[in-house]
Parts: sequence; structure tokens; C-alpha cells
Amino acid sequence: MRVDLFTTIHKAIRADLFDLAREAARCDLRSTEDVDALVAHVERTVGYLEEHAHHEDNHILGAVRTVAPELAASLAQDHRALDVVAIEVERAAHALATAGAAERPAAGAQLARLVNHLVAVQLVHMNREETEVNDALWGSLGDPELAEIRGRILGGIPAERMVEWRALMAPALSPVERAAVIG
Ligand SMILES: [Fe+2]
Repeated sequence: MRVDLFTTIHKAIRADLFDLAREAARCDLRSTEDVDALVAHVERTVGYLEEHAHHEDNHILGAVRTVAPELAASLAQDHRALDVVAIEVERAAHALATAGAAERPAAGAQLARLVNHLVAVQLVHMNREETEVNDALWGSLGDPELAEIRGRILGGIPAERMVEWRALMAPALSPVERAAVIG
């Protein structure tokens, strides 16, 4: 098994995205408590996605650029496009949070549709990183170099934020991975 910079963290991100899509679909739009919880979940998820993309942009993209420049450019473009979708989701969440009772059904439906779109484009993107990008990295870099990149990413995450990332990861991993990553 090669050092894999994507698959483990992507499991956590997918699990959270699936939870969010389910929560958006099930939300009782008559309940302010439910709506507030959904809006808070959107904010949390978008925060994780932004942070994750920054980790990739700051620590992984440079390595990809040296071994596969066109792939790196396309990946950077993916990240910009995903940012736009995330902003649309945040706007829809804000619209739901501030909607009156009569507007909530339409605002909730619009948010759910955009969350589903976010999930769809994120799934394609993460799969691309786990296949195309890993192939490019594995073809050109050794495991020690990849482990160094991973060390730089992990070293840049503050301890209290790492607790939150671990909480996101723990239920999403297999027992073997959980033991290796979380201990
Ligand atoms: Fe990415």
C-alpha cells in the first residue's frame, strides 16, 4: 500500500456530505430548531470543505504541478468551481434561515437541491484525486516524500481543530484505519 494523501480524509468528507444531504431532505421546515440545525450543519460542512481544499492547494498542488502541470491546473480549476457551488449553498442556507414561514418550503427545497449538487460535484472531484492525482504522485514521488507532505498538512492544523477533524473521521473509517489514524 502506497502513502495515500486523499482516501482517508475523503471518507470523512463524504460521510459528512451524505449526512448533510439526508438532513436537508428530512428537515422539518416548520421547526425553527430543525432549520437552525440544518443551517449550522451547512456552515460546518462548508468550513471543512474550504479547509480541506486549502490543505490541498497549499501542500499537494505544488507537488502535482512538478510532475503533471496540466493535471495541477485542471485541479486548481476544479477547486475554484467547487468554491462557487459552496457559496451558492451558503447563500441558500442564509435565505432559508431568514425566510418567513410561508417562504420556508421553497427555500428549504432550493437548499436541498443545491446541497445535492454540491455532493455530486464533490464526489466526482474526490474520485478524480484518488485515481488520477494519486497515479501521478505515485508514479513520480516516493512514499517518504508523500509522508512528508502529509506531515506538513497535519502539522499545520491547530490541536483543537484536529479534535474536530478526528471526530468527523472516526465514524467514517474502517476499524483498521481508525486504529491507525486515531489510535
Ligand atoms: Fe480537492
